[in-house]
Amino acid sequence: MKNTVLTFREAKENGTKLTMLTAYDYSTAKLMDEAGVNSILVGDSLGNVVLGYEDTISVTMEDMIHHGAAVARGAKNALVVIDMPFMSYQTNVYDAVVNAGRLMKEGRAGAVKLEGGKEVCPQIKAITTAGIPVVAHIGLTPQSIHAFGGFRVQGKSEAAAKKLVEDAKAVEEAGAFAVVLECVPAKLAELVTKEINIPTIGIGAGNVCDGQVLVYQDMLGMFSDFKPKFVKHFANVGDMMKMAFTTYCKEVQEGIFPAKEHEYAIADDVLEKLY
Ligand code: KIV
Repeated sequence: MKNTVLTFREAKENGTKLTMLTAYDYSTAKLMDEAGVNSILVGDSLGNVVLGYEDTISVTMEDMIHHGAAVARGAKNALVVIDMPFMSYQTNVYDAVVNAGRLMKEGRAGAVKLEGGKEVCPQIKAITTAGIPVVAHIGLTPQSIHAFGGFRVQGKSEAAAKKLVEDAKAVEEAGAFAVVLECVPAKLAELVTKEINIPTIGIGAGNVCDGQVLVYQDMLGMFSDFKPKFVKHFANVGDMMKMAFTTYCKEVQEGIFPAKEHEYAIADDVLEKLY
């Protein structure tokens, strides 16, 4: 069944947990869609796990549109959410609406996601007023990594925890239909989840959130540069890939691959005429 913003609303009402995973290409999106995930996030984590940048700052609108459209072609039922990259919405409301519109028209998104709380509420309001569903993202917001001074748990002090609750309420009020809570203490995420009427999607925020999201290379053990505490490897696909690549090299070098069953035939009489 097609997942929409209504799926998110109903899940919050019924207490059904929502599932979200990141993807950046057609074939991965298709597998996730067939597995039944509610939503596929074309995250700007693309910058780290696909493009090899140290952070998400260099990711462009063109990157997000290119990968978003590929994911959208593979996702029949999952709601495709595309991240708004750094400086595509922070500048002003006009840029935010134009760029969110491009992610919908050219990237074929079903919704967009942007980072920040109260300070981006004018943008959330303007984008949703234009008929584009918005997922907010608070807590650890990787586009502000230089302002945070590194990847660290957010909301631990009284003032920071209070701000997180206020930001969650503000993005709901501005029109977001869901909010990602990244890297915040589980008990604070639980409080936020109780205080607002839109679903919270946690990543490093405990299991009381209304849903969960993970970067797929993290959950499959395919990305070894950095492993946050909140990541669980659901399969060691990275090891399997490495093993398969090694076996391929060995079989090619030893003349084992390709074998007879991988060859195309030609009739003997055609071949004889060539000599
Ligand atoms: O870019 C991304 O993958 C994200 C998730 C970590 C939520 O924003």
